[in-house]
Amino acid sequence: MDKVILAFSGGLDTTVCVKLLEEEYNLEVITACVDVGQGQEEVEKAEKVAKNLGVKQHYTIDAKDEFANEYITKGIKANAVYEGYPLSTALARPLIAMKIIEIAEKENAKAIAHGCTGKGNDQFRFEAVIRSMSDFDIVAPIRDLNLTRTEEQDYAKKHGIPISSDKIYSIDENIWGRSIEGDLLENPENEPPEDIYAWTASAEDAKHHPTKIAIEFDEGVPIAIDGKIMPLIELIEEANRIAGENGIGRIDTIENRMIGLKSREIYEVPGALLIIRAHQALEELVLTKDELLFAEYMSTKYSDLIYTALWQEPLREDMDQAIDNMQGRVTGKVVMKLFKGSMLPLARESDYSLHDIELISFEDKENDQKEIEGMIKYHGLQAAIYQKLNR
Ligand code: ARG
Repeated sequence: MDKVILAFSGGLDTTVCVKLLEEEYNLEVITACVDVGQGQEEVEKAEKVAKNLGVKQHYTIDAKDEFANEYITKGIKANAVYEGYPLSTALARPLIAMKIIEIAEKENAKAIAHGCTGKGNDQFRFEAVIRSMSDFDIVAPIRDLNLTRTEEQDYAKKHGIPISSDKIYSIDENIWGRSIEGDLLENPENEPPEDIYAWTASAEDAKHHPTKIAIEFDEGVPIAIDGKIMPLIELIEEANRIAGENGIGRIDTIENRMIGLKSREIYEVPGALLIIRAHQALEELVLTKDELLFAEYMSTKYSDLIYTALWQEPLREDMDQAIDNMQGRVTGKVVMKLFKGSMLPLARESDYSLHDIELISFEDKENDQKEIEGMIKYHGLQAAIYQKLNR
């Protein structure tokens, strides 16, 4: 029997996929759960569900550090945000696909399978990487058989597959963020119930006193919080916790998906929003006006590439080089104030600061103000000539 490696989370889609791949596609299923910070509980659940399904071989791959150091760092340096969403799911998919390819090679598999439906973006993201980085066949049973969520639940029942009934939403979680979709959230007329949120406090329940937090960056990457240097994973966890308890990080948006659908999306991204905001505050201090303008343009393009499953696009690599070069000076410290869902930079400092305290000061006598007069005379020369003609 040919082997298939299934990217496995233990949720409804991928659980049903195991049986479908065996029964409908006649494949031997090997499951693989890639740990990108979805939580120890989720990773262990995947292993348990795989075992209960009688899967012969299950892999757990710890890719947390790689996700933080090779993917999230790029997202931070580029301020990667698509329609307000810091791309948590989108950034993790290429890495998950790469890890699945590695297992497929090791196991000499015929195919790679995923549990994506035919409506979302993740099918593009997985398949773009699998196609460009390997020659494995791709199987997408849920999409292939055009199954609805209810049909999946019925199929599970019929085949005696245990499904946790408490989970009605489709949730995707990693260290950079949490996405909640489905059920009553699908209709934008419905207000989301408070209990969908796990990482963030509502404004009402947020801490009643403001929190000050100092974030230090080294070449565009955060390295310390309040003077304590820590590995990026820990730093993000800490940022998630502090921003979350201050009511920061909820996004409720109408997103434009790749296939053109508008979809109501809810995210919890406290750490990501805080880190990116602080990063931008530092960039304002150290980059020139032209660099900032160009960085903003790159950020939009970069985010769009990541969202639209084009991680493999050479332009992404080209931009990484340009961004890395610019980020060489994004080193310094930003103090942020967080309070009930709002955040504001309070102070910033850097050895690469382009802000000249002497020059900007109203008390400066040394640089003669009168010298600016000549520049002003000629500023907007063509506009002045045009208006003169009009007169
Ligand atoms: N809309 C987001 C994206 O395309 C999140 C998708 C996450 N999937 C989920 N089942 N919640 O990146």
